[in-house]
Amino acid sequence: MLCGLAAAGCRVLGSGGAVRPDLYNCEGCAAVLEQPASALSSVSILAGPEEPGERLVLSGQVTVPDSAQPAEGVILYAHHTNAAGLYANGSQATEWSRRHGRLRGWARTGADGRYSFVTIRPGPYPDRTAPAHIHLFVGEPGRRPYYIDDVVFDGGFGVTAAYRSAQELRGGSGIVQLRRQPDGTLLAVRNISLERHPEP
Ligand SMILES: [Fe+2]
Repeated sequence: MLCGLAAAGCRVLGSGGAVRPDLYNCEGCAAVLEQPASALSSVSILAGPEEPGERLVLSGQVTVPDSAQPAEGVILYAHHTNAAGLYANGSQATEWSRRHGRLRGWARTGADGRYSFVTIRPGPYPDRTAPAHIHLFVGEPGRRPYYIDDVVFDGGFGVTAAYRSAQELRGGSGIVQLRRQPDGTLLAVRNISLERHPEP
């Protein structure tokens, strides 16, 4: 659901931010809390050099709503398909380790609000029903977790005008540019503006 100022079902607050009543409707959000926050750092390695695929770093800054102020101590959970488009080779440790596959991990922002996931570029599902994407979930200290818009790659398969117009814009747009770095790695920058909460 696109929750703009004029959208039905959205409660408008202050200078333009809106509360999504369905913010916590989320499959897989329990995975955000699988790791203790104290064990996490701002850089999370999802894929080692043995993982097939193009090297990709997804990074950005998390900020508080309607502000450029960095948000510290926010857990981000990411998971995505492998280069073949499959959620493969997960462990049996938890429901989400099994369902989300091996390429998943957690980062926790520092005082500067920044995070990075070191991984590979995911492939689209083999049935080509969606763009290649990285799922992102947010866990703010003391708050229920929620998902934000998937990271997808501008110019890539499935990132069409229709896709663009249908974005929920949770956390801001998830459409990112890929930039090739001198060492051959792809860099994707996705800055995240935290959502307002329907609960006090
Ligand atoms: Fe997916």
